[in-house]
Amino acid sequence: MSSTEHPRTFHVKSFGCQMNVYDGERMAELLTAQGMHAIDAREDADLVVLNTCHIRERATEKVYSDIGRLRREDGTTPLIAVAGCVAQAEGAEIMARAPSVRVVVGPQAYHRLPQMVAAAAAGGRETETDMPAEAKFAALPRRRKSGPTAFLTIQEGCDKFCTYCVVPYTRGAEISRPYADLVDEAHALVDGGAREITLLGQNVNAWTGEDGAGRAVGLAGLAQALAAIPDLARIRYTTSHPADMDDALIEAHASNPKLMPFLHLPVQSGSDRVLKAMNRSHTAQSYLDLIARVRAARPDIALSGDFIVGFPGETEAEFADTLALIDAVGYAQAFSFKYSARPGTPAADMPGHIAADVMDDRLQALQARINRDQLAFNQASLGRRCSVLVERRGRQAGQWLGKSPWLQSVHFTDEVAVGDLVEVDLIEAGPNSLAGRRVG
Ligand code: SAH
Ligand code: SF4
Ligand code: F3S
Repeated sequence: MSSTEHPRTFHVKSFGCQMNVYDGERMAELLTAQGMHAIDAREDADLVVLNTCHIRERATEKVYSDIGRLRREDGTTPLIAVAGCVAQAEGAEIMARAPSVRVVVGPQAYHRLPQMVAAAAAGGRETETDMPAEAKFAALPRRRKSGPTAFLTIQEGCDKFCTYCVVPYTRGAEISRPYADLVDEAHALVDGGAREITLLGQNVNAWTGEDGAGRAVGLAGLAQALAAIPDLARIRYTTSHPADMDDALIEAHASNPKLMPFLHLPVQSGSDRVLKAMNRSHTAQSYLDLIARVRAARPDIALSGDFIVGFPGETEAEFADTLALIDAVGYAQAFSFKYSARPGTPAADMPGHIAADVMDDRLQALQARINRDQLAFNQASLGRRCSVLVERRGRQAGQWLGKSPWLQSVHFTDEVAVGDLVEVDLIEAGPNSLAGRRVG
């Protein structure tokens, strides 16, 4: 492709959180609507969109090495667009450091991607990182095709300003998409084949809106409205903040049968001093009390969390408090990270940065507990009969893979198809998956 030709093929690669996955899908839909074709082989694409993540240092470094790797043997490169949170945070720096990058577009501006690509193909270099209050969503095409599981971003941005985190800077202030738009998009996804929808937001449970009758509703009310879509079988949501977990949402886990028994509720640390330094607005005890209320509403709920080890100043005793909290909760799964200093965040300037080897040891110790509890949770599921939403074929002949209501991977052998919702008995448990037997 010469530099003045409009690209015909594209490849979107998304890093980071599920919201980036959603954005990547929407960008692909936009480019497809322009008559371009998605292809799997990055090196053959005329246009490559790197939809980036800025959450930890390694994530950012990856962008630059990926840009380098896009250089072909003959020295040419595809037209490279950098989107996502690194684009937002370091747009000018990328343009200066990586001459092969022709488009930089932030997470709130990607509805402009087609025009920017056209201008870049005509020889320009384009940057758009404004965070306009008016939503980009209205400018996106209607959803058409969907796999059995779909993401739907309902809320964006974050006002919480945890002291380690870049998200409030890369994604901006909290906004909630309007109720009617979300019900409409959910219908379109279900018409396109979705049986399960995961509602997304940086703080998804902070979503608020007004229903058709003008009444104020929260996430529980939205989930209620979506549950009325007949062919939608399952509703999930992520990521929630403990401070926004209201009574209505807890109660919805008891009363809304389509709301799956799974809650991802990051806690980050079990030490109150560390939590305060993180600006997390909850204590270890208030988090445990909240978990107890959720379990009272839905006793079988699977709990998931996020943890940061080695926050500046974290002592051995404070780390031990985190292990104690893990023991008290009994997570079904969790994500854990070594603290990574992010430029411009308050924690980056705090004293007491922890040595790398100490962080490694703490991460290992924490992950050992999580793995132990994950296996225990899976083993405790043995003998349960549950639904499995079939997502894809397994490695062995005749084998299929899907998810249980508790978000466990389940494999079984039978004649089914992707998108089927089948009943299975859980008969074998490993740390990362279970074997099932189809009922009937
Ligand atoms: N909005 C969500 C998720 C934010 S990012 C929430 O509040 O929970 C996902 C996870 O990345 C966070 O929960 C946190 O555990 C981790 N994280 C964020 N910033 C980090 C940093 N600077 N270093 C290490 N981990 C970080
Ligand atoms: Fe980051 Fe905290 Fe906001 Fe989550 S709640 S996105 S960790 S600032
Ligand atoms: Fe990463 Fe941005 Fe998501 S920093 S985790 S892609 S909100």
